[in-house]
Amino acid sequence: MSKPHLVHRCQSCGASHSRWAGRCSVCGEWNSLEEELVVDGPVGGARPAGPGPGPEGNEGDCVPVALSDVDLSAHAPMPTGIGELDRVLAGGLLPGSATLLGGEPGTGKSTLLLQALAAMASSGRRCLLVAAEESAQQVRRRAGRLGTDVPGVFVVEATRLPQVEAAVASLAPDMVVVDSVQAVSDTEVASPAGSMAQVRACSHGLVALARASHAALVLVGHVTKDGALAGPRALEHLVDTVLSFEGDRYSSLRVLRAVKHRFGATGETGLFEMGEKGLTGVPDPSSFFLGDRLVGAPGSALTVPLEGYRPLVVEVQALVGRSSPVPRRFVTGLDAGRVGFLVAVLEKRAGVPVGDCDVYVSVAGGARACEPAADLAVCLALASSLSGKPLPGQMVALGEVGLGGELRRVNAMPKRLTEARRLGFHDALVPASTERHGARPEDDARPEDGARPRRRELPASTLRQALALALGEGPAVRMAQGERPIVLVGDENQRLR
Ligand code: TYD
Ligand code: MG
Repeated sequence: MSKPHLVHRCQSCGASHSRWAGRCSVCGEWNSLEEELVVDGPVGGARPAGPGPGPEGNEGDCVPVALSDVDLSAHAPMPTGIGELDRVLAGGLLPGSATLLGGEPGTGKSTLLLQALAAMASSGRRCLLVAAEESAQQVRRRAGRLGTDVPGVFVVEATRLPQVEAAVASLAPDMVVVDSVQAVSDTEVASPAGSMAQVRACSHGLVALARASHAALVLVGHVTKDGALAGPRALEHLVDTVLSFEGDRYSSLRVLRAVKHRFGATGETGLFEMGEKGLTGVPDPSSFFLGDRLVGAPGSALTVPLEGYRPLVVEVQALVGRSSPVPRRFVTGLDAGRVGFLVAVLEKRAGVPVGDCDVYVSVAGGARACEPAADLAVCLALASSLSGKPLPGQMVALGEVGLGGELRRVNAMPKRLTEARRLGFHDALVPASTERHGARPEDDARPEDGARPRRRELPASTLRQALALALGEGPAVRMAQGERPIVLVGDENQRLR
């Protein structure tokens, strides 16, 4: 066995350095290097892991097989029974696979997994929860509150890797949840629990255990706001799937995303609402976000951002306040820099004087619309708030706004419009190039009696045109404070109703 020697391990990215430095030269993190005693061989003294022959693997087993002869029967995903989780996992958890569920403390990771364990157990699977942070009594109490106190879910209090291995060997579960990986330590590693060396060593050991026992393993990993804290980011390459669970502490909405998924696409998102009885899937998020909408209020515009592959109809709300020498910007659910850009374009290219006003913009219900497709809706909401005129209530607006005030096309337009129409929003203000590029759906209903079509797409090539179509040209209006007249260019007769 090689002589143990000292390295300086970055607690953020896991890189090892022979000398201490104030900053990690690999990831750039400051003050993240800590001493670690290592013995050459497998990382952190852990057992080797990964697909292929396990620790007991025999080199003689490595016979190539034709790809078409590879047996897939044992690799069918096991649905967890939590619809939104299964959607993100492309069907469920695979036997022998390893999944990392990362998220800030308090997001609801333990709740989600307890519900998943109970749902799996209800379908006859054997499920094990390794409680490394909480006592079995705390878990039982939580299960009672959630109504997930079902037979078939086993719990073991364990904080050391060999204990986990013994528990898995004795129960032979189909699914194992380790909550959390930062609270488990390997006695063979000298570093304290929660350190990068421990997290890596334990993860190696647990992944190898999952491969050998054919149990689907889910590791819980806490991350801080900047994604650091001993590990989860450095573990991503070790596991098959990385899920991130996000939520705002002031909102009950939780979003589950697959950051990496070896068995399916990563664009799917799952949406949950945290309530008194735990997490409930939100299968119709658009209706969820629009639930409290005040129809006809100035400053409110609808748009359809994509959350992963899913189009969601959301409400962008704007409030333009009095002008001040140092105008303030408050932005929630959108990119603040982008809103600043749109304010400048609105003023310069469309003559809407918002530049020196206080501006508040948010996406209602805790939703997000951080993509350029929402630009037009933000501009319309701002202009509507400033002028006091409401936008047409049944209209969605989609379009990227360029620096020249031009409207640029957005991707996946048919999908977005279909979602809007499903909810009864039949009018859509879209970039004129949408039509030219043939993205306009063929199915517009055009009544023969000359009445207005049930579905309308109103193309505009500039922000100015779009404002005229949506708000029309009215008499110059004054702000509540009586500061500035605002004239919106356009023809009132053309206005969308
Ligand atoms: P938890 O699952 O413990 O979060 P994590 O494991 O990610 O740290 O959930 C923590 C929060 O969720 C806690 O602040 C209370 C809230 N919560 C509910 O609102 N309803 C519930 O039914 C449960 C179990 C938790
Ligand atoms: Mg927890």
